[in-house]
Amino acid sequence: MRHQKTSPNPRKKTPAKQELAMVARTIYGLEEVLAGELAEIGAKNIQLLRRAVSFTGDKAVLYKANFLLRTALRILLPIREFVVTNERELYQGIQRIDWTSYLHLKQTFAVDSTVNSQFFNHSKYVALKTKDAIVDQFWDKFGRRPSVDIKWPDLRFHIHIRENKCTVSLDSSGYSLHKRNYRNANHPAPINEVLAAGMLMLAGWKGQTNLIDPMCGSGTILSEAALIAQNIPPGILRNYKYSFMNWKDFDKALWKSIREEANAKKKTFEYKLLGYDKSAIAIREAKDQLFQPEFYPIRFAKSSFEDLNSPVKEGILVMNPPYGERMEDDEGIATLYKAMGDKFKHEFKGFDAWLITSNLEALKSVGLKMAKRYTLFNGPLECRFVQYPLY
Ligand SMILES: C[S@@+](CC[C@H](N)C(=O)[O-])C[C@H]1O[C@@H](n2cnc3c(N)ncnc32)[C@H](O)[C@@H]1O
Repeated sequence: MRHQKTSPNPRKKTPAKQELAMVARTIYGLEEVLAGELAEIGAKNIQLLRRAVSFTGDKAVLYKANFLLRTALRILLPIREFVVTNERELYQGIQRIDWTSYLHLKQTFAVDSTVNSQFFNHSKYVALKTKDAIVDQFWDKFGRRPSVDIKWPDLRFHIHIRENKCTVSLDSSGYSLHKRNYRNANHPAPINEVLAAGMLMLAGWKGQTNLIDPMCGSGTILSEAALIAQNIPPGILRNYKYSFMNWKDFDKALWKSIREEANAKKKTFEYKLLGYDKSAIAIREAKDQLFQPEFYPIRFAKSSFEDLNSPVKEGILVMNPPYGERMEDDEGIATLYKAMGDKFKHEFKGFDAWLITSNLEALKSVGLKMAKRYTLFNGPLECRFVQYPLY
């Protein structure tokens, strides 16, 4: 049976049960994990795309997707697709949409874009052209135009151009969902929260044993591990409004019930979450977040990996060591990775060790047999996330 899909409209009331077509964007390599999460919140027609997963669901699924998905960056609702090979076609395609049905003159808006096409090089330029086409339509109709607000717009639109296919979507999330709002922003190389959560889920983490991050930096992996282990929604501490809250059809009662239902599912966690780093500053800053009850199970201490004595005898180890981009000599990074392999063997027998790195050469110096290996992207860096069972 074909499902009924509907385009959203933030200026109209939509019935709560109306089936919406949606796309959750993610990091390359996490599509399957995200599809699994979507199935759990009741999404239907789930299909893997590149760096994204499409699905359908009602308004409750839309709210849950924003609040509960650990591996989604944003939830988009496609409103139009058309073919584009140049700037003029882009402008015309955008102008063919009746923007007055989406946007009110008094509302502010912003346009984001992602471009992966031989016809367009700069995503910022595509966003700018789209904004111009929207604004011009208002000028022509009313002699006035809505304002752009890049930071806190009432509505956000998203343009995705892949080769010659342009998809215009309404962005229901606003600020990216990886911004969980728990951590200190000062660490020089923090891992993206969505990537950390995805790594833990690929490693099978459900909070059923101890977890150690011996190079924890600002503690992102442990923070995500704490949320997963206690079944706490990733959006729990977010203090930025989701974009869908500015839509006319925002259902406050439904949103409240979804939050309450999720909060009631919180679990207790009985093992240890341990973070170490050789940098005293990193540890001091990581400890700053421990006043939040969600992170009470975590313990941070300063230690170099080489000197670390594990206080627990079993568990999993998940780490994001330096990749060596900033190290001048390759020998230094090879020595570090060799020391990691030695430490795994001698100190962490009985553990399952997982690490992510973009440095495939250094990875060879670990010198242990890998069991699993995934390709993930850490920002622009193609990485391997690998498992060493240390039994
Ligand atoms: C890429 S960062 C980890 C970032 C972390 N995942 C986060 O989200 O903030 C690597 C960390 O390894 C630490 N480090 C490097 N060599 C180390 C060693 N030998 N022992 C312990 N920590 C080390 C650095 O201080 C740095 O904080």
